[in-house]
Amino acid sequence: MTPTPPAPARYPIALIGAGALGLSFAARLARTTRVALVARDAAAAALRAGVRVGDAHFMPEAWAPEAAPQAQWVIVLVKAGDTAEAARTAARMQPQGVLSLQNGLTEPVLRAHCALPLTAQGITTAGAFRDDSGVTPSGDGEVLMPPGFEGLAVLLAQAGFDARVVDDIVPARLAKLLVNVAINPLAALFRVRNGELLAPPYRIWLDALVAEAWPVLHAQGLTLDEAAAHARVCAVAEATGANRASMLQDVLAGRRTELEAITGVLIAFARREGMAVPTHEAVHRLLGLLEARPR
Ligand SMILES: NC(=O)c1ccc[n+]([C@@H]2O[C@H](COP(=O)([O-])OP(=O)(O)OC[C@H]3O[C@@H](n4cnc5c(N)ncnc54)[C@H](OP(=O)(O)O)[C@@H]3O)[C@@H](O)[C@H]2O)c1
Repeated sequence: MTPTPPAPARYPIALIGAGALGLSFAARLARTTRVALVARDAAAAALRAGVRVGDAHFMPEAWAPEAAPQAQWVIVLVKAGDTAEAARTAARMQPQGVLSLQNGLTEPVLRAHCALPLTAQGITTAGAFRDDSGVTPSGDGEVLMPPGFEGLAVLLAQAGFDARVVDDIVPARLAKLLVNVAINPLAALFRVRNGELLAPPYRIWLDALVAEAWPVLHAQGLTLDEAAAHARVCAVAEATGANRASMLQDVLAGRRTELEAITGVLIAFARREGMAVPTHEAVHRLLGLLEARPR
């Protein structure tokens, strides 16, 4: 086995969050560039021994947050509830830019805890899941980011990602949020795989969630018309039909979900616009009760 050369003074790229997506991105990027992977804590030391990612054994250059090295670009891939801490770590790494690829709307929290001018949220449609044996990437997907991140897009593209800068990231972010507010909470509540939401009895609630979310997100800058919004949600539910949504996985594992960054954000937008979203409020209340239950 070739020993890892000494850490560079400044890594070209770092990822914060050594979970499903962080490990999957790191393993792919490590084929073409040096990558620092920041784990939650001492887990970093264990990760250095390696982990299965896809069919390969990957030995990340893993770091604990307090020892995080400098990096040119930082990508945040922790769950939404851990954003503030990850943002503080990112700021200490003195990067040119910090990009979140998290689900939900986390940019306000990221910016509140990381004062760098180039701090923003993009989107990815790439996927990955983890189990006891390691991480399995599930689909290549796109990575979209706002202007200013051209250098990061080049590094990702060199590693084979379909990564690019788009002039206006807001519509893409809102389209991702639309899919998430419709599929994630419903799958978690009824404990069903994504594809089952397209058929009775769940379909009526899926349609209601989309019908309520569309005008709210349209008012924020979603460019899809209402029919296209419905079609997008159904297409994703179909394409990911066999998957368990991340919120369902979190509920089943007794972990905190990303409910507040997803449904919570939609409800806050609706209140600001004076629009009614009763089905989302019901789903939010029910999942909130589930999360608050004793473990
Ligand atoms: N997985 C997907 O297919 C997918 C697709 C698109 C978007 N996303 C989004 O990407 C984000 C990450 O998802 P994921 O599935 O990779 O989650 P995950 O498997 O739970 O990974 C998150 C990792 O971040 C670690 N972490 C938490 N706080 C940290 C901190 N302060 N510093 C460093 N590491 C920290 C966690 O450690 P612990 O294990 O100790 O908690 C965990 O290893 C989420 O917002 C998710 O919605 C995921």
